[in-house]
Amino acid sequence: MRVTIFGASGLLGNALKHEWTEDEVTRLSSKDTDIRDPHQVTGAVERSRPEWIILAAAYTDVDGCETHPDLAMQINCRGAMNVAEAASRFGSRLLFLSTDYVFDGKKSAPYETDDVRAPQNVYGRSKAEAEVQLTKILPDCCIVRTSWLFGVGAKCFPDTILKLAAQRKELEVVNDQRGCPTYNRDLARAVIQLCRRNATGIVHVTNSGECTWFDFAKQITQSAGLSTIVRPVSSDRMPRPARRPDYSVLSSKSLQRYDIRMPSWEDALKRYLDERKS
Ligand SMILES: NC(=O)c1ccc[n+]([C@@H]2O[C@H](COP(=O)([O-])OP(=O)(O)OC[C@H]3O[C@@H](n4cnc5c(N)ncnc54)[C@H](OP(=O)(O)O)[C@@H]3O)[C@@H](O)[C@H]2O)c1
Repeated sequence: MRVTIFGASGLLGNALKHEWTEDEVTRLSSKDTDIRDPHQVTGAVERSRPEWIILAAAYTDVDGCETHPDLAMQINCRGAMNVAEAASRFGSRLLFLSTDYVFDGKKSAPYETDDVRAPQNVYGRSKAEAEVQLTKILPDCCIVRTSWLFGVGAKCFPDTILKLAAQRKELEVVNDQRGCPTYNRDLARAVIQLCRRNATGIVHVTNSGECTWFDFAKQITQSAGLSTIVRPVSSDRMPRPARRPDYSVLSSKSLQRYDIRMPSWEDALKRYLDERKS
């Protein structure tokens, strides 16, 4: 199978490099192809002629998107449409990475794939709009929503917590946003399986279980054997430019349709810490 990955230098892209070993994979960063430029995108797809395109390229800085809304829409929505149009022209299947932030966070049970999109911030709006537009261009595209991505290869929450815990005796972490962390290696494996199983439509892919950022931070310091005290605080104490949903756990029902099971986030964290050490 021939595969082209846009966003290959990011957190997910890095894991795909390790996991996707059996096929002919073309890996592209923004330096190779800027997805905002339709000519560059068409050229890249024409050269690689992939059966599958993985669209992991995005402007993922949630607070940055809030202060640069035009850039967020250009990359996350218009750029994604450029890739979908090229996929349509050259007959490639498309798997697009989206986010739990397309939801408003008002539910208290896991979000299903057909729950109404109601994003609370610019990043979520740019991804939600991309989902709608991509489905118009390529009705059989696969949209993989994930959440709270972490892993070796780029900046992520556990890495930040471990660095802060090494410098401070106490840390304050928000305890009123609930979601599910997702290890980039587990997400990469699921993405590969979904392509092999010819997935279409929206699929939710996260590690199993749920927690708050405080729970996650506590588990990170404990698992790493650090004595740093982690204290829970409310989001009001730590205002940020972009509003986050209070609750954004994604239901795994859509993934079970493809007979894919995800390990718990606690198990994933242990494997991340081992990978980080090595
Ligand atoms: N991180 C999360 O917590 C999270 C949660 C939910 C969903 N997601 C989604 O999952 C996907 C992968 O996320 P990630 O964390 O791996 O992202 P990431 O680490 O921020 O990497 C972003 C990737 O996009 C590329 N990129 C940025 N602007 C581009 C442009 N104009 N043209 C082409 N490429 C561009 C970057 O290339 P350079 O390295 O060259 O800049 C990089 O390869 C994204 O679609 C994201 O929205 C992420």
